[in-house]
Amino acid sequence: MRMVDIIEKKRDGKELNKNEIWWFVEQYTDGKIPDYQASALAMAIYFQDMNQAERAELTLAMAHSGDQIDLSSIAGIKADKHSTGGVGDKTTIALAPLVAAAGVPVAKMSGRGLGHTGGTIDKLEAIPGFSCDMSTDEFIDHVNKNLIAVAGQTGNLTPADKKLYALRDVTGTVNSTALIASSIMSKKIASGADAIVLDVKTGSGAFMKTLDDSVELAQAMVEIGTKVGRKTMAVISDMNQPLGLAVGNALEIKEAVDILKGEGPADVRELCLVLGSHMVYLAKKADSVKAARAKLEEIIDSGQAVDVLKTFIQTQGGDAAIVDDESLYPTAKFQIEVKAEEEGYISEIAANQLGVAAMQLGAGRATKEDEIDLAVGLVLEKKMGDQVRKGDTLVTLHANREDVSEVQQLVLDSYKLVKEEVAKPTLIYKEIY
Ligand code: URA
Repeated sequence: MRMVDIIEKKRDGKELNKNEIWWFVEQYTDGKIPDYQASALAMAIYFQDMNQAERAELTLAMAHSGDQIDLSSIAGIKADKHSTGGVGDKTTIALAPLVAAAGVPVAKMSGRGLGHTGGTIDKLEAIPGFSCDMSTDEFIDHVNKNLIAVAGQTGNLTPADKKLYALRDVTGTVNSTALIASSIMSKKIASGADAIVLDVKTGSGAFMKTLDDSVELAQAMVEIGTKVGRKTMAVISDMNQPLGLAVGNALEIKEAVDILKGEGPADVRELCLVLGSHMVYLAKKADSVKAARAKLEEIIDSGQAVDVLKTFIQTQGGDAAIVDDESLYPTAKFQIEVKAEEEGYISEIAANQLGVAAMQLGAGRATKEDEIDLAVGLVLEKKMGDQVRKGDTLVTLHANREDVSEVQQLVLDSYKLVKEEVAKPTLIYKEIY
């Protein structure tokens, strides 16, 4: 087979067959196809697209390009959730114990990553003693015993995707539905879950800014997952403003713990219940999504969710006393209020800009080598649709340095106020099976 023939075939809008796709992925992973040919193919796919069969083969080939997590020694239907990412998204931390309490095994591989705050693993490390380092055997053992474990990614998962994603990033080929959907799904499939619930964010703070683009991506991923034999569905949820109130590692953990106690912001609770009920339904622990939701509400009300959370924390070396004693979290030295300079109704909150503000305080990494400050971040006191008077606090900054004037200005600029009343944004736009 010759790479140039594959490039020309796709350039001319023809369908690539299974052999061609797998050959390309294998050879590229092994360094036998140069980046310039792989980028030519990515550009051809960008313009000519891939049909469902091609997308499924590309996903499977990338999922098989490295290690795959074998969860077959865990009984039951293992469920996983993936979010396309947004500011203040702490759902995994509440959702995993919640659905585990409903009898669904959650074997979650998570990452650190770059961004406004740390990844799920960084956030969990805000719990004193908590560790996501474990062997594969320990990981499986924990899930068999407690139905829940969160481990850091080990081994060599989807090397083809790593290489191709890095290449796409510098060749203007990230924004192809076929390539995004197969990139995300290859990682989920290699992680071994039987049921996958996708939280596709939409709005100004999301990867996909418009509802149409978000729905297209969600449908593409659901089609791929279903075609390769995983129960898959997607929820399209709002990211026109941060989710919940807290942005920052320890601050987000506290908010997630509050959800399991039946407290916390309504939007985070609702998203956890929606995503969780689909996970429980797909894992066959309820006969309908409605019954699954009722089960999860009962699990929160009865205190069972908190019990599972405590066991989860203890098993991974953490101090479960934090659940009842907030003084045990890393705490920032200064709390600085950012106040409204005019009155009105909040019509916009630039989520990404607030994310940058959190990062400037030290909550996230700009490069892999950066250290995260787990204590810092921000807490929104006002959200879209809220009425504000001059001098009201919009956001409280949690900082470990006193001079944060540039962060204060950034936060202030993130809020747009108008004179007329503004409706609160929709949280859940669509559920796609
Ligand atoms: N996230 C991924 O993992 N892959 C993409 O291609 C885009 C976003």
